[in-house]
Amino acid sequence: MTLLFYSETDAPEPWRDAFARALPQLPFRVWPEPGADEAVRYALVWKPEPGLLSRLPNLKAIVSLGAGVDHILRDPQLPQGVPIIRLLDAGFAQQMAEYSAYAVLHFQHRMQEFLAQQSNADWRQLDPGLTRDWNVGVMGLGVIGGHIAQRLAALGFPVLGWSRSARRIDGIDSFHGDSGLQQFLPRARVVVNVLPLTPETEGILDARRFALMPRGAFVVNIGRGAHLIEQDLLDALDAGQLGGAMLDVFRKEPLPSDHPFWRHPKIVVTPHVAGVTIPSEAESQVIEIVKTLERGEMPPGVVDRSRGY
Ligand SMILES: NC(=O)c1ccc[n+]([C@@H]2O[C@H](COP(=O)([O-])OP(=O)(O)OC[C@H]3O[C@@H](n4cnc5c(N)ncnc54)[C@H](OP(=O)(O)O)[C@@H]3O)[C@@H](O)[C@H]2O)c1
Repeated sequence: MTLLFYSETDAPEPWRDAFARALPQLPFRVWPEPGADEAVRYALVWKPEPGLLSRLPNLKAIVSLGAGVDHILRDPQLPQGVPIIRLLDAGFAQQMAEYSAYAVLHFQHRMQEFLAQQSNADWRQLDPGLTRDWNVGVMGLGVIGGHIAQRLAALGFPVLGWSRSARRIDGIDSFHGDSGLQQFLPRARVVVNVLPLTPETEGILDARRFALMPRGAFVVNIGRGAHLIEQDLLDALDAGQLGGAMLDVFRKEPLPSDHPFWRHPKIVVTPHVAGVTIPSEAESQVIEIVKTLERGEMPPGVVDRSRGY
């Protein structure tokens, strides 16, 4: 039996070392190294090539190298009945709470305008307003979103949260479902999206939702690129309905060099770094997942395929 590692962006060496230390009896094969596909029992993957997993007849579990699983579920030949397990926090929550706090403070403290002023040596004081007047809405109140909401609240921001089912988090004004979204958006001066990408959430950041937000509101997208309708964002920014956006994820990554987002004065682009998989933070969880499966038990983090997350 073998573990197959597939990622075009994560270095395999730290994972190979971690498995050699913790499970020396489990051979570790890095795709595209040759080997017997019949021997593969576990696949540890990030954006696996469609069709790859269906070629592994004895696959017992698919483990995502991230918190999201849209990169696995998009495979039309994905083997049925094989459990998919995702990472729970594994270091993402703190990184993404810091990114979100930075983004909210960037907009509140008028950094977008100060950077533009600096390029013209323009000395002009602008008011950040009171923190208690900056309502922040977090879309997605799961492992990561729940942590982001609490960290923003600890900074003094009034925080609203939105999820699919009703969630209760101390100090957070929670909304859920479609009707909840209609109440949530008009109150959110900054929206931080950290939803999973599913058929229900694809394209959720669109003109209709932007129109519900207060005029001049800001959008921070750290969920997935396909949550955003790109042209709707450009239109809302140009019309002043939105005041700015900080974007970490894109429909096409890397973002093509001629994409209008790169040069838009009201958009900050970061290259999918809001929450990265750091092996030293995540390896104990991944190893525990494999050990649990080896005992014939199911680890936490099993994905509900019908929900898509
Ligand atoms: N940019 C990056 O670097 C980066 C890094 C890591 C993760 N991510 C993204 O962050 C996402 C969230 O991760 P997580 O671990 O926090 O996931 P999670 O624990 O599964 O939480 C997902 C949250 O989204 C809500 N949700 C799902 N579908 C919904 C819908 N149709 N309407 C309203 N709410 C909905 C869920 O509602 P319920 O509470 O009712 O289930 C839950 O609160 C990942 O899927 C990934 O896309 C991005």
